Amino acid sequence: MPAKINLTLKVGPPRSDGYHPLATVYHAVSLYDEVHATWAEPDDFVVSVSGEGADSVPLDDRNLAIRAAKLLARTQGPHDSLGVSLSITKAIPVAGGLAGGSANAAAALLACALLWDLDVSSEALRSLAADLGSDVPFAMLGGTALGSGRGEEVVPALARGSYHWVLAFGHQGLSTPAVYRRFDELNPTPPHPEVPAELMNALRSGDPAELGRTLVNDLEPAALQLQPRLRQTLEAGLDLGALAGLVSGSGPTCAFLVAGESEAVELSVALSAEGLCRAVRRVWGPVVGARVVA
Ligand code: C5P
Repeated sequence: MPAKINLTLKVGPPRSDGYHPLATVYHAVSLYDEVHATWAEPDDFVVSVSGEGADSVPLDDRNLAIRAAKLLARTQGPHDSLGVSLSITKAIPVAGGLAGGSANAAAALLACALLWDLDVSSEALRSLAADLGSDVPFAMLGGTALGSGRGEEVVPALARGSYHWVLAFGHQGLSTPAVYRRFDELNPTPPHPEVPAELMNALRSGDPAELGRTLVNDLEPAALQLQPRLRQTLEAGLDLGALAGLVSGSGPTCAFLVAGESEAVELSVALSAEGLCRAVRRVWGPVVGARVVA
């Protein structure tokens, strides 16, 4: 299942439950984690993780894929006869603002429902996804979609064409709650969040230059305060020819929009040479959400 970036992320004042109301446009890009599920003894839920950032992924109940499997078993299955062994191969960086954990949760829900042969409606799966995290429903849907509520309410957006991006991974992760806290300090009375009409028009046009002029992330100033050197990465990407650049979600990954595939190759080579970020990846979007591959 794919990573996501937010083409726009507008954030309002915290609600009474601590979450922030969002108006966002999610965009799934071609950077994938894989989750394999095999039967385990009843009530046995285990996970192993390899690949990008594997050392920093918890293997206990804090693991979102384990949480997803247990939630599905508890609510939908004959749970005392169910168990699973999950194996995750990561390409999406941990705590990168790309919803890697959410993607793993979405995949675990689908994989376990299939493995256990459960009769679960897509409605029920969507509701479990929302319980697991604000970005999990989008991870199941994929494509380009409008997100509202705390991000968990998603509807597909009208979008034409596909877009090429260069992602710059940061040296350290950023904690999403910490970025939201800094946002609150910087914005004591933010307005009610709304997706800019220009962004939706740009998406319908399919023109990357037009889309580039409309990208915005309200969390970016907070992420830049917590990791000031991200500013250099953003400036370097723009100097090296990106149409636009922004911090993805709560960061620290920076996403650069480019005109096409050859521009993506050029920018990724030049940005790697600057040595400002840990790694650089070329991706495109939109791509489909979590999928079962036999
Ligand atoms: O929903 P999820 O568990 O992924 O959110 C992680 C954290 O991010 C929340 O505990 C909260 O601190 C913050 N958050 C928020 N408003 C949102 C989404 C997330 O404050 N809309």
